[in-house]
Amino acid sequence: MKPYIYITRKLPDTVAEAITQKYEVKMWEKEDIPVPREVLLSEAKRADALFTVLSDSIDKEVLTAGKNLKVVANLAVGFDNIDVKTASEEGIAVCNTPDVLTDTTADLTFGLLMATARRVVEAAEFVKEGKWKSWSPLLLAGHDIHHKTIGIVGMGKIGETVAKRATGFEMNILYHNRTRKPEVEQRLGAAYVSFNELVEQSDFIVCLTPLTGETKNMFTRDVFKKMKQSAIFINASRGPVIDEQALYDALSAGEIAGAGLDVFEKEPIDAGHPLLKLVNVVALPHIGSSSVETRMTMMQLCIDNIEAVLVGKAPKTLVNKDWMPLVRA
Ligand code: DGY
Repeated sequence: MKPYIYITRKLPDTVAEAITQKYEVKMWEKEDIPVPREVLLSEAKRADALFTVLSDSIDKEVLTAGKNLKVVANLAVGFDNIDVKTASEEGIAVCNTPDVLTDTTADLTFGLLMATARRVVEAAEFVKEGKWKSWSPLLLAGHDIHHKTIGIVGMGKIGETVAKRATGFEMNILYHNRTRKPEVEQRLGAAYVSFNELVEQSDFIVCLTPLTGETKNMFTRDVFKKMKQSAIFINASRGPVIDEQALYDALSAGEIAGAGLDVFEKEPIDAGHPLLKLVNVVALPHIGSSSVETRMTMMQLCIDNIEAVLVGKAPKTLVNKDWMPLVRA
């Protein structure tokens, strides 16, 4: 019997077709609807491998639904949607897609910073809506980016790559991270500062930290109050790292100048959400790594990881380094 791979999101047919000789492959076919929980549970019951996306909650119930599951390959670098501890206990490998998305996600993050600072979305709408009647000196004037201070919270690979982009704009680079990175400081001229110093001194606060118990709700009302009134806040990590109500309050009270958000507490965000009513908010639908090239590479990496585990090899990008395959009777 061929091992069974269940893919929880509609992927280009070529991705699944390439492996159907060796594996039984089934894919959730509805493009715009996530796989319903009951379908996920019933597929997990018989699957040898799950190919998942970040909107799937891969919790204990899913991981223990059946006896065959050996690997969960998540199409993202983040894996906060997976109960990694239970996966390890169950002998299930958890894999993610680091490295291949670093440049693409850094590009989007920097693009979002630029769009927010220079009011690009607002200005484009202004033209399309026929509101452009004359040139005027301060028409849609935004904030400069060059020579300003960028503060990166979470100096992982994406953070480093955003910092590299910032050097091209001759920015002053601050960062805060769990561990200090002397090599990055040297190479990119970045200065390590405390979280408080970073929020107080930066013109652009860029959040790229993974979502963990420690980082959940890290950006509170008090934190936003410490920022400069001209500060622009960018979030390209995970929504729950910020208190969205606190961000809304800070923006509407004019305590900070703007926000560029690629991620939200609840995704997809409701179109009626108060944050979306603010003119100084640029909101994107979690597209950090979404270029065709990168997403295709990420899909292939997930497939490679699944195949490696199913033939008894170590996957390329394993999350749970303590993973030991279980020998099941
Ligand atoms: C990730 O890979 O974790 C990103 O958030 C996806 O864009």
